[in-house]
Order: sequence, then structure tokens, then C-alpha cells
Amino acid sequence: MGCGFGIILLFVVHFVDAQTRQSLNGDWLLKDESGEYLDLNAKVPGGIYTDLMNNGVLDNIYAGFNDVEYKWVARSNWSYYTTFEVREALTDYYTINLVLEGVDTFSTILINDVEVGTTQNMFVKYIFNITEQIKVGDNTIEVKFLSPISAADDLAAKHEQNYVVPPECVPDSYKGECHVNYLRKIPASFSWDWGPAFPSVGIWKDIYLQGYYCTLIEYVVAEVLDTGDNWTLSIDTYFSPPADIVGFLGFELETANEPIIVRNWTILTVPNEYGEVVNTTEIVVPKTSVETWWPNGYGKQPLYTLGVSFDSVFDYSYKEIKIGFRKIELIQDELEMGRSFYFQVNDVPVFAMGVNSIPFDILPENSYNQERLNHFMSSVATYTEMNMIRVWGGGVYESDLFYQLADEYGLMIWQDFVFASSMYPADDDFLSNVKSEVNHQVKRIQSHPSLALWGGNNENEGNLASNYFNTADNFEVYKADYIKLYIDTVRDEMRRITKNANFVDSSPSNGIETDSEGYVSLDPGSLIYGDVHFYTNNRDSFDTSIYPIPRFSSEYGFQSLPSVSSWLTVTDNLTDLSINSDFMKHRQHHPDGNDPLKNLIEFQLELPSEDNEYYDEALIYYTQIIQAMSIKIETEHYRRHMGRVDNDGRGYTMGALFWQLNDVWVAPSWSSIDYTGKWKMLHYFVPGFFSQELVTGHANSDNQLEVYHILNKEYGVGEKWINLTIYAWDSFTPVNSTQFVGEFEPVTSTLIATLDIDQYLSDSGCGSVEEARFNCFIHFVAGLGTITLTPSNYFFPSKFKEANLVTSNLEILAVDNFDAEGLRFLIALRADAPCLFVWLDAGDTKGHFLENGFIQHSLVTTVIFVADEPTTVESLQATLTVTHVKDPKYFPTKV
Ligand SMILES: *[C@@H]1O[C@H](CO)[C@@H](O)[C@H](O)[C@H]1NC(C)=O
Ligand SMILES: *[C@@H]1O[C@H](CO)[C@@H](O)[C@H](O)[C@H]1NC(C)=O
Ligand SMILES: *[C@@H]1O[C@H](CO)[C@@H](O)[C@H](O)[C@H]1NC(C)=O
Ligand SMILES: *[C@@H]1O[C@H](CO)[C@@H](O)[C@H](O)[C@H]1NC(C)=O
Ligand SMILES: *[C@@H]1O[C@H](CO)[C@@H](O)[C@H](O)[C@H]1NC(C)=O
Ligand SMILES: *[C@@H]1O[C@H](CO)[C@@H](O)[C@H](O)[C@H]1NC(C)=O
Ligand SMILES: *[C@@H]1O[C@H](CO)[C@@H](O)[C@H](O)[C@H]1NC(C)=O
Ligand SMILES: *[C@@H]1O[C@H](CO)[C@@H](O)[C@H](O)[C@H]1NC(C)=O
Repeated sequence: MGCGFGIILLFVVHFVDAQTRQSLNGDWLLKDESGEYLDLNAKVPGGIYTDLMNNGVLDNIYAGFNDVEYKWVARSNWSYYTTFEVREALTDYYTINLVLEGVDTFSTILINDVEVGTTQNMFVKYIFNITEQIKVGDNTIEVKFLSPISAADDLAAKHEQNYVVPPECVPDSYKGECHVNYLRKIPASFSWDWGPAFPSVGIWKDIYLQGYYCTLIEYVVAEVLDTGDNWTLSIDTYFSPPADIVGFLGFELETANEPIIVRNWTILTVPNEYGEVVNTTEIVVPKTSVETWWPNGYGKQPLYTLGVSFDSVFDYSYKEIKIGFRKIELIQDELEMGRSFYFQVNDVPVFAMGVNSIPFDILPENSYNQERLNHFMSSVATYTEMNMIRVWGGGVYESDLFYQLADEYGLMIWQDFVFASSMYPADDDFLSNVKSEVNHQVKRIQSHPSLALWGGNNENEGNLASNYFNTADNFEVYKADYIKLYIDTVRDEMRRITKNANFVDSSPSNGIETDSEGYVSLDPGSLIYGDVHFYTNNRDSFDTSIYPIPRFSSEYGFQSLPSVSSWLTVTDNLTDLSINSDFMKHRQHHPDGNDPLKNLIEFQLELPSEDNEYYDEALIYYTQIIQAMSIKIETEHYRRHMGRVDNDGRGYTMGALFWQLNDVWVAPSWSSIDYTGKWKMLHYFVPGFFSQELVTGHANSDNQLEVYHILNKEYGVGEKWINLTIYAWDSFTPVNSTQFVGEFEPVTSTLIATLDIDQYLSDSGCGSVEEARFNCFIHFVAGLGTITLTPSNYFFPSKFKEANLVTSNLEILAVDNFDAEGLRFLIALRADAPCLFVWLDAGDTKGHFLENGFIQHSLVTTVIFVADEPTTVESLQATLTVTHVKDPKYFPTKV
């Protein structure tokens, strides 16, 4: 009896509606092809490096020089195997599938020694029909992996008979592997400038058997369309084949009032031209019956459960997803010069304040660790007003949990498809492999309200246009491949599945202008179209004139060194912390080495002498100051160009996503949070420079201080005050102050004052016109009535190394625990004179301060420390240290 008979049987009998899924997760065994390793214990889901560490074959891979020590691992061919028992009930089903949610990457799968399939893409969900191979009782399964290095070499060698797909390899300084661009595998797993090469193999997501008679719900893609007084929820329900059956398709949507329930007869028979059996149902949801989802800082993130069930005489299946009601548009209107480029959410223009993420671990099986993800996502959204994360294309399509957290925290996701910083092949095999990936990933992720934009790739249009990989001689070939891959395959497959998804071909790109320029524009980094990426490491990063004035800055960053306590998790040799140690050189992958770290500091700050015993520690601290200040200065520069445009059409800037949030190991990098979870100074600065309302100043080319008031969104009605308070470096008593007033529109940056710096400071009481700038600094704050609305901000009129800073003792006066749980501590600090970038460090006591890296311009200040786990005053005190720029230990008074 087949599925087609379902229509007759519908009212007669229900076969089964029990669990049809049998997990194969758990304890497996592991061996290598050479026979050196046999029957090692393995965990599924997991990966080879974790398993070899657990078996004691490898030490901590994240430590020391182990990344290069362990290169042999990825050159071996590993095999995972186990036995499993099949009960009779399972074999009743017409179809029994083996489902692999994620397998990394090239494998051959055998059931009872019979090959049932092969895999070649870690971003695809594989389903193999094993009905014929499975038997009641004991069965075996083996997943034989091919070394990803061999796979890449083989594919490259084959392709290079026609032409090279560059780069041939990563720069030597990466100590990486070659030709990852031929694989559908995390590009960064072959190394990056911030990360090691650990090209894993393994079953990195769930694996299970799934039995059914006729069909199961495979994917639910629910998209919310704004249709005036109502939202229209358009739901595509995809069914597994053969799906030749009649049944009840039901939808239940939770709302603020009564749930909306739709349940109808549905006849599933004819697959569409893509071989999919899909039902589209539209449900009208009155706007009054649900609350609107907003990005972080703009409102709440209400989520509603949508349950979809299919109930036939043979099978019952059910899927549940969380949806949010919102509209996200990418606005690219024509302007006098160029086009705008910004996100508009529920008709409100939103300045995108955010950050780029890299994979949350270099090992794919660790990248969805719940505790880790929670830490990073809450560090972004709970403590700051950031509203966007760009999931960068050299990494991974993140886990379901990641997108769920993004929905809950209100973090809009700019999701790159996983292609980055290289050319890619575009032969038929590669394209069809990519098409399966796009199909799966779009169906998996698209329903999340946080999903704001899909991007075709990272920087590949730019690399092609700028001849970065020496493609110019063969430009038309590479361009044709580029279009085949990102436009005809990635974009078209995504558009086929979605209704109103936003898409850009690349980042940076000129947005829709790129399309009219034939998909590869002459200058993908145009300032008056789309987004830009901007990096420099050899110019004075405090000089705002070096920064571009784009519509949207989607990548910009500066390196710093991880904190001492983070370093000590990967080496126990303090000598390694010297910037010139072999270890530090080994961990620095940027071809420019560690010199730029020092050079950037020396533009602004005086370093202690190299023979000072605290020199290494100071250097680490100073790199974090420079990184934090540079990103702050660059970000405020972008924000000052919101809502205004210059004579060259530059401005209307509506986005700043700095590079980068996280790390995959402890190394010099652009991250704001160490691999260990510890915040760098940069992360402590984020709530300040990404405050929705802010006063900021910079020196223009005429040596004038321009003071701006920035307001992202409507807040407070009436005249606001802006105070400029002038402090001298040697006193806690303000020298003078000036007040300005004004009323401000949202989504604007308003010039409040233009002041001749030397004259203004001199008039204010800071000394002669020639000397004043070295004696004083300016504090900004704005408010309404008695309420302060903005964080403290500062303008430093001279380089710190030229200012008359005073060496000041700064001591921890007291530490107190003020909650019953032992989680919150009050720390009091006393200074002799104003202290710059006061840096509290709790060592390896995990937690964070509510403020850090701040300017102390009062005798005593208090700071709260929030521990991740309960601790005591005594143990916190044992690890707690404080320092600042003019710490006497760095600058001992000469005798
Ligand atoms: C891994 O398998 C490939 C393909 O069969 C083979 O060429 C290669 O030599 C094997 N590598 C090792 C280390 O056995
Ligand atoms: C919105 O829904 C209401 C009923 O809830 C209906 O009267 C109205 O016609 C709908 N409007 C649109 C544009 O569909
Ligand atoms: C799976 O294989 C079995 C046995 O060959 C077959 O009866 C069944 O129709 C197949 N299922 C699908 C979905 O093709
Ligand atoms: C589908 O179900 C809804 C609610 O149960 C009902 O109002 C509607 O008429 C049904 N539509 C069809 C085409 O049967
Ligand atoms: C999709 O399912 C709905 C029931 O939810 C049904 O009314 C409709 O006819 C189905 N559409 C198609 C094309 O089968
Ligand atoms: C620490 O590392 C240095 C080189 O950076 C080496 O000379 C020294 O022997 C190491 N010390 C220990 C205890 O391993
Ligand atoms: C702002 O300046 C006014 C006038 O000088 C002063 O009264 C007020 O206390 C200042 N407020 C803050 C928060 O600095
Ligand atoms: C404060 O500044 C004003 C000008 O802005 C000046 O007239 C006044 O003398 C200054 N006060 C002191 C104490 O220097």
C-alpha cells in the first residue's frame, strides 16, 4: 500500500504518530587510515581535535605553538564508526533516512559496509535513504573522512589544468593551509590573520535516523509582510518526498489575545519544478493582536510561537518556530549625488551600530556552545545599545541558538554567505554544491526576525575590481565566474525561496548601483554608494581627517593585545609576553607583524622605557588604550556625519560596524573581547561611543574644536543643555565651563559650536595661547532639565605624550560585596591627580566592571564589579589590580 491511498484511509485509521526519530549522537569510535590510531573514543556531534585532545593524543590545541605542531592531524584520513540497534518498529516505515545536520566535510558513509552516500559541504544538511540497508538488530555505521588538505589540493590541481583560482595560498605569516576556496568549509579553518589553521573533520551537528511513511514537515519558512492595518504572515511549508498524500495542514499562531488557528485539508502531490513539495499559506494578523519587534534600543523584542502540523492517516509531524512582527528595509534612494544606504525598521530609520563577528570558536563543534554564545550576545546587547551584528563570510552560518539569541536581544543580523577574501571556482559541481547550501541555509534561517540582510560575499567584488589577486589578465573569466556564483546561483536561489529579503552582492559594494554597473563596479568602495571597509595601521589614528566619509562603514578596526590573564591560559612562560618573543611573533599573523601595535601607540603616548620591569604589561595595556580610543574616534567620526552631507556628496552616514567582536584563540587581534571572554578596553568603550545620544568633538583642519550633538532617535522633548567643562591635568577642580542649549531632531548630528582651540582654552584659564592645549582637556555632557542624557565624553586638545600629564598614585581604597549572592562588588579608588584610562583588572576572576578604562577627574570614584560566579572580597582582592597611563610604576621618579 502506498501513500496515494491516504485519501481513502484518512478517516479510517491512524497508523502511527509516535516519535520517528532515533538519534545516533553519543559515543562513537575513531581511527585513522594508516592504522596508527584505532578505536579511540569519540563524541558525536564533535570533531577530530576535541576527540584527540580527550584521548590524550593532543595537548590543548589552543596553547603554545600547537597549531603548527599538530598540522599532521588535518593531513590524515580519519574515520568515525559505531554500532546501533534498530528496533522492529522503525523498519515499518516506507522510508528510513539517515540525516546529518552537519558533516565536515568530505566523507563517504557506509551502513553495514555498504556505501549509502558521500558528503562535500559542511553547510548542507544531508539526507540519505537507507531503507534498503538497515536491518532489525545491530547495524554499523562508518563515516570515512578525506583529509581536507588532500581534498583542497586535489580540487585545485584538477581546476588548475584550466586556470588558477587565487590565492594559491594564504600569506606565510598565517602559517596556514592552501586552497580552502575550493571547499565548502569554514574558510578561516585554514587560518586567517587573527586565527590558526585547524581544519577539522567530524560530524559537527546532530545525526539521526528518521522514519516516515509518506511525508514529514522538512522546513517552515515564515515571512512577515507589512500589509497596512495587518501583517501578512506568509508561510512556506516544505515536505519530504514523496509527499503524495492528503492530510490536514494546521497553523497555530500565539498572539496577545486568542491564538490564530488555521487548519485545512491539503493535497500534497506535485513537486514544483525544483523538486520541492511546498505549501504556501498566508495568514492575516491584525496589527492590534501582536506587538511589534524592534532592534535593541528601539523597543521590545516580542516573539510569538508558530506551530505547524501536518496530520495524515500515515504520519503526524509538527514544527515550531518563533517569529517576530517587523519590517526591515534597506533604503537606497537616489540622492543629489549617489544613493542613500540605510536600514529602516518599521518605518523608522535606524543608524546601524554594531560589530562584525567571526566564528565563536575555531572548532565548529564549539561554535554553538550555549554559555559562550550567551556571554557574547549579552555582552553586545545587554551592556551596549548595539543593534547589529554582521556574521562575516569567512566563518560559518551560525547555529540556531545564535539567531534565537539575536531575535531575543534585538540584534539585527547582516548575514554574509560564506565566501571571503578570495576568488572561487564556478564549475557546475561547485555551483550545484553551493546551491544546495543556499537552499538549506536560507530555509533554516530566514524566518528569524533578526535577519536583516543577506550579503553575497566578503570583499570579493573589491578584490576583483582592484586586481588584488592578479586576476586582471584574465578579468573577463573571473568576472563571469563571479556573476555565475554570487548572482545567478547565490542570489537567485535565495530570492526564489524568500519574498522580501534584503540582499547585497558583496561587502563592500555600491548596493544596487553595483547591479547597474554589471555586478563588478570600478570602485566598489565608492563613498556615495553602499558600504565601505576601511583599515589603516600606519597613520595617526586620532586624526579624524584620515577616515572616509561613507554612507555606511561595515568594517573598520585596530589591533590590540589580549589581557595578561588571557595570555596565561595559553602559555605559562612570562617571557612569552614580550612583544619580541618568538611566541608573540608566532601568534601575530598580520604580515606587518607587531610593529604597527607599537607605532600606533607612539603617535599618541609615551611608553615606559623598555627596561622597566612592567614594560610588557604596560605595552599590552597601551595597545588596548589605542585600540579603544581609535575605534571610538573613528566611530564618532561616522556618527557625526549622520543626517548631513558635504559638497562632494559625502555623508548621510547610517552605519558603523567595527571589526571585530570575538576571537578564536588568544592572539594579537582586532577583537573587543578576548577568546577567554574577558573584555578589552574597547568593549568597555562601546556603551559610550554607541550611546543613542552623544556629545562629541573633534579638531578640524583649522585647529578648531567642532562640537556636535548626535541623536539617533526621538528622546525627550524640549531644549537640551550641553556642558563643556574644562579640567587641568593637575587638578580635580574644573577650570571653567561653558553651556550651550538647543533642540534636536532625531537621526541628526548637529554642529553646536566651533571654537578656536588655543584661544578658547586660554580664555578659559588654561594658560597662554601657546601653552593652554597642553594643560587642559574638555569634558562634554548633555541633558534635559535635571536629567543627564549622554555619557561623559572628552576632547583631548593635544597628544597625550605632549600634554602636561602628572604622575599620579591611584590606590584601591576599599572593596565591598553588596549583594547576598557574592556577585556584585563596589570598588573605591583614590587618585592624587586626574588619571587617564583607569584600568581595573580582576585577573582570572571572571566577570566585568560596569565601567573601565575611564578618566578619573575626582579624588575618589567607585566602580562596580559583577562576577560571573560567586566569589568573596578576599579572593577578588587577591586578583584585583588597577593601573593608569601615568602610573608611577611605569614612570618611576628619577633619583
Ligand atoms: C588520504 O586519502 C587520500 C585519498 O585516498 C590519499 O591520497 C592520501 O594519501 C591519504 N592520506 C593519508 C595520510 O593516508
Ligand atoms: C485587515 O484585517 C481586518 C480584519 O482584521 C480587515 O477588516 C481588513 O480588511 C484587513 N486589511 C487588509 C489590508 O487586509
Ligand atoms: C526510500 O527507499 C525505499 C526503498 O527503496 C523506497 O521504497 C522509498 O520510496 C524511498 N523513499 C523516498 C523518499 O524516495
Ligand atoms: C481553512 O481554515 C479556516 C479556519 O479553520 C477556514 O476559515 C477556511 O475557510 C478554510 N479554508 C479552506 C480553503 O478550506
Ligand atoms: C496550502 O494549505 C492550505 C491549508 O493550510 C490550503 O488551504 C491550501 O489549499 C494549500 N495550498 C496548496 C497550493 O495546496
Ligand atoms: C621561556 O621562554 C623563553 C623564550 O621566550 C625561553 O628562553 C625560556 O627558557 C622559557 N622558560 C621556561 C621556564 O620555559
Ligand atoms: C551644566 O552646567 C550648568 C551651568 O554651568 C550647571 O549648573 C550644571 O550643574 C552642569 N551640569 C552638569 C551635569 O555638568
Ligand atoms: C571662564 O571663561 C570665560 C570665557 O569663556 C572667562 O571670561 C572667564 O574669565 C573664565 N574664568 C576663569 C576663572 O578663568
